Amino acid sequence: MAKLWGGRFTGGPAAALEALNASIGFDWRLAPYDLKASRAHAGVLHRAGLLSADELAKMLEALDGLGEDVASGAFTGTIEDEDVHTALERGLVERLGDLGGKLRAGRSRNDQIATDLRLYCRDHARGLAADVTALVSALAEQAAEVVDAPAPGMTHLQHAQPITLGHQLLAHAQGFLRDLSRLSDWDERAAVSPLGAGALSGSSLPLDPVAVAEELGFARTAPNSLDAVADRDFAAELLFVCSMIGVHLSRLGEEVILWSSQEFGWVALDDAFSTGSSIMPQKKNPDVAELARGKSGRLVGNLTSLLVTLKGLPFSYNKDLQEDKEPVFDSLDNLALLLPAVTGMIATMRFNTEVPRSSAPKGFSLATEIADWLVRKGIPFRSAHEVAGACVAHCESKGIELHEIADEDLAAISPDLDPSVKAVLDVDGALAGRTTPGSTGPKAVADQLAQVREDVASW
Ligand code: ARG
Repeated sequence: MAKLWGGRFTGGPAAALEALNASIGFDWRLAPYDLKASRAHAGVLHRAGLLSADELAKMLEALDGLGEDVASGAFTGTIEDEDVHTALERGLVERLGDLGGKLRAGRSRNDQIATDLRLYCRDHARGLAADVTALVSALAEQAAEVVDAPAPGMTHLQHAQPITLGHQLLAHAQGFLRDLSRLSDWDERAAVSPLGAGALSGSSLPLDPVAVAEELGFARTAPNSLDAVADRDFAAELLFVCSMIGVHLSRLGEEVILWSSQEFGWVALDDAFSTGSSIMPQKKNPDVAELARGKSGRLVGNLTSLLVTLKGLPFSYNKDLQEDKEPVFDSLDNLALLLPAVTGMIATMRFNTEVPRSSAPKGFSLATEIADWLVRKGIPFRSAHEVAGACVAHCESKGIELHEIADEDLAAISPDLDPSVKAVLDVDGALAGRTTPGSTGPKAVADQLAQVREDVASW
């Protein structure tokens, strides 16, 4: 097939250029979106008096037929086609002869590719949002199973204060809910149609970009034709959201890996979401959680790759922009693989709640309760912290837990202490005492769970 740009050239392209220049190897998946935009453009050319009613009917029929052949695989692009736009024009010319060559009037591959990629991103972002929603739902339902099961809450991976497993799982759900809201406000910004910008300056033909935008589901047209063909903010922003989702998946994966380890023993992964070892028959490995952690690297890499490509590009279109597609496809493809697997792993794992319950008070995680108990008696927190710290030091030297401090030793540590402090040295009591919204108390967590379920239902 002749190049779309062959007219002024005397010879064909060098094989090395052709191999380098071609994007057909990765942009073919844009074909359905390119065809959709072509249908809209054909209508515009007709309304502009540049295609008769008969020509329009033939054009739309040929585009439909081409779409079917693309879907079935009967028609595909080849390396000589260079890119998806060239291949589809070839398909049209094969069907329509000269008439097929009319569709290119008033548009350029520059506004076409910007349009195709936006359509692709908006379409796939909806699938991504559905996958994230399913994960939030799995987290919420798993949280419901262990909503008030105590566990050690940690900072620095050291026991800090008791929390509930439900609270911990819902903490992960919150990040993914923010990702959903990022996807939705991203979509509003991405809903801009570049078609009509042509190569860079608009068109001298009486096109109708507003009607095209509407037909393609965009909310508005690009206000500046240079920006229309040069802007890839929408792709970079989507890659940021993908990276953020990846980072959230990674942090969740890391916790599942810890919780399922022999040392923690909090959770058992379902066989269907675990793998084995080729040499050690006993092994049950958390590969899904590890890939959740591992794939965040390429997601962040894809974002970095596009940002660096964009940096320093003069306006308007430059061939560097062809490098935008693979990172976008890679991130969306990988999340489409990863999210259902992580959702399945979360939905099917089973907590052994006894283990985290029994370790919740360990490591003197109730020391803050002593300090708060003293504060309620009017002691300044600064002194209360000192006294509670002295209790911990006493226990460490004796090898005992806080609730085991002898009554006379309490009095010796501080005159402000008395045996009634032991009432707060209880995990369930400490949890029940946390009543503020967003805290780990049973009522607050139940409220949070109800809200998360409501949020999930609204997506
Ligand atoms: N394959 C190109 C891309 O992905 C399409 C646009 C080509 N435009 C051009 N002026 N060479 O960006």
